[in-house]
Amino acid sequence: MAARRLKIAILISGRGSNLQALIDQFGPAAPTSPIEIVLVLSNRPDAFGLTRAARAGIATKIVDHKAFADRASFDAAMDKEIRAVGAELVVLAGFLRLLTDGFIAGWPDRLVNIHPALLPAFKGLHTHARALEAGVRFHGCTVHFVRPEMDTGPIIAQAVVPVRPEDDENSLGLRVLAAEHRLFPQALRLIAEGKVTVEGERAIVRDAAFAGGLLFNPLGA
Ligand code: GRF
Repeated sequence: MAARRLKIAILISGRGSNLQALIDQFGPAAPTSPIEIVLVLSNRPDAFGLTRAARAGIATKIVDHKAFADRASFDAAMDKEIRAVGAELVVLAGFLRLLTDGFIAGWPDRLVNIHPALLPAFKGLHTHARALEAGVRFHGCTVHFVRPEMDTGPIIAQAVVPVRPEDDENSLGLRVLAAEHRLFPQALRLIAEGKVTVEGERAIVRDAAFAGGLLFNPLGA
């Protein structure tokens, strides 16, 4: 008998490069992966991610926020689509609308987001420019469970990249994005394998891969 696979719905608003990383690992070409992508939903009809999903043979839906009078009715329409396909986990992959508390409450520890910074530093937008301005030596990305307050919630996994002296917003952003593409599938895999629990307001990951050690930037400091 085939192993049970976690059904996920992925919400996007744009180019969908993170979506592509998830399709590459969990899409129809990987039928034995622990995750099945049952829906890609976009609030924007022109999101390139929709093309990526359709190309891979994954079901897509557009729920255009402009067609709704308020956020609650928009969120309710999305929720209906997500539940209709039997999704068990909702994944925000560059979804650029704030969700209502009601929607979030309907997916307790079943709603995850990727943020392009090492939370709790640099919540919100323009994270790479702000990291450069702050002069931090390390930057990165975070996968976390979603709570009503923006960019908060139990942290599941983080990836760190060095900030180089010659970096600008673009070069640093590309380095972080490459890390996102590796981190996001890995974090979702841990969830699918039942290795992530939330205790108090911390996500606990039970996995043997943790290596420990220190990282220095500049190297050898
Ligand atoms: C990523 O940087 C992600 O961290 C943020 O939005 C961006 C989406 O990019 N939440 P893409 O659509 O996945 O290429």
